[in-house]
Amino acid sequence: MDVKKEYTHDGVTVVWKPGLCIHSGNCVRGLPNVFKPDEKPWIQAENASGPQLMEAIDRCPSGALSYYTTEGITSEEKKDAMEKSKVEVLNNGPLMVSGPLEIVHADGSTETKNRNTAFCRCGNSGNKPFCDGSHKG
Ligand code: SF4
Ligand code: FES
Repeated sequence: MDVKKEYTHDGVTVVWKPGLCIHSGNCVRGLPNVFKPDEKPWIQAENASGPQLMEAIDRCPSGALSYYTTEGITSEEKKDAMEKSKVEVLNNGPLMVSGPLEIVHADGSTETKNRNTAFCRCGNSGNKPFCDGSHKG
């Protein structure tokens, strides 16, 4: 039987399937406080936020690490969506980007968006980087 372990923190359940790991080390490099190969358990999900866990796991090349969230997002769906991501340039308006997305802000904070996100392209938004409709004024 294939071994599978799950660790839940901050709305994200990390799924670990050791049989698939190709030891790329991306996980350890991405979140050394969470992925600690020399400790037990080696995954300490409580040491990062949900978005940080998702971002690190998205870099696992083998599928040994995956996740699902309480909102019903799964790493497989996110990968599929990323491969088909679309940016629509609206006439005299924002850039409409199809989610799910992880946004890394200028101050380093991160935010996850699940559907369409409008990014201001005119520079007038009071809610940058998002469009607030000011381009019409
Ligand atoms: S990123 Fe994935 S494949 Fe690489 S070491 Fe971590 S679990 Fe294994
Ligand atoms: S594009 Fe809408 S406010 Fe800038």
